Amino acid sequence: MGNNRERPIGIFDSGVGGLTVVKQVLNELPNENIIYFGDTARVPYGTKSRETITHFAMQDVRFLLSFDVKMIIVACNSVSSNSIDILKRKFEVPVIGVIEAGAEAACYYSKQKKIGIIGTDATVESNAYERHIMEKCRAELIYSRSCPLFVPLAEEGFTEGEIPEKIANKYLEHFKDIEVDTLVLGCTHYPLLAGIIQKIMGNNVKLIDPGIEVSKKVRNILNINDMYNDSVYKGEVKYYLSDIPRRFEKVAENFLGGPISSVIKIVIDDF
Ligand code: DGL
Repeated sequence: MGNNRERPIGIFDSGVGGLTVVKQVLNELPNENIIYFGDTARVPYGTKSRETITHFAMQDVRFLLSFDVKMIIVACNSVSSNSIDILKRKFEVPVIGVIEAGAEAACYYSKQKKIGIIGTDATVESNAYERHIMEKCRAELIYSRSCPLFVPLAEEGFTEGEIPEKIANKYLEHFKDIEVDTLVLGCTHYPLLAGIIQKIMGNNVKLIDPGIEVSKKVRNILNINDMYNDSVYKGEVKYYLSDIPRRFEKVAENFLGGPISSVIKIVIDDF
């Protein structure tokens, strides 16, 4: 086992979406070395059963462990909401999901405790955000719904203009009617649509990006456990995928907010 501080952090997602989380981790912890795995061959996870999501997630974690990672961030909301308990139980390395951090932030920012959550079917049906929110604060009202079309819109780069606005209006109308004051963007893809979501919900509604929140949480955990990489050099990020999809580089750049360095394809079924 290498030096605790210099060992990389493992981050995984069902595909490219988790790059929105990598972006935030790089912002918060620029010195950390990162191994990213995106299961692009088997994406989406958000429409699959809990059993399948968990089976895939266990393989994803085993792949990351082959790099002696010091911690694993589950960037995928669908995995975090369905499989986090079993991952925490099965593996010795600390595993941290996005749900807890997102729920904590929702409680913190919501003044009236009227909280909305949007995510994939797998995330919404798990009720994981609701459970964590109710544990952290006595919410007056929680309402969630899935917004499946947001995923292809984000990947297509359709993040502003008439078409995404119409779709977003339809998805968000009930959240407006019941006057939530905080809305959790409970899917890796949704931060790309934050502009139109904010426009529709109005500036008084606080949008929570769990990627930002989990990055702050990871910083604290690393500090407390003396695992923070205090090197003066920028960390190295390595990207692994189970498939290199067409147009991957363009899509990845949108999610990461900059060009992506070399990507290696692996066979996830070997893990
Ligand atoms: N990464 C997934 C999530 O955050 C969205 C894409 C998928 O369905 O796999 O839930």
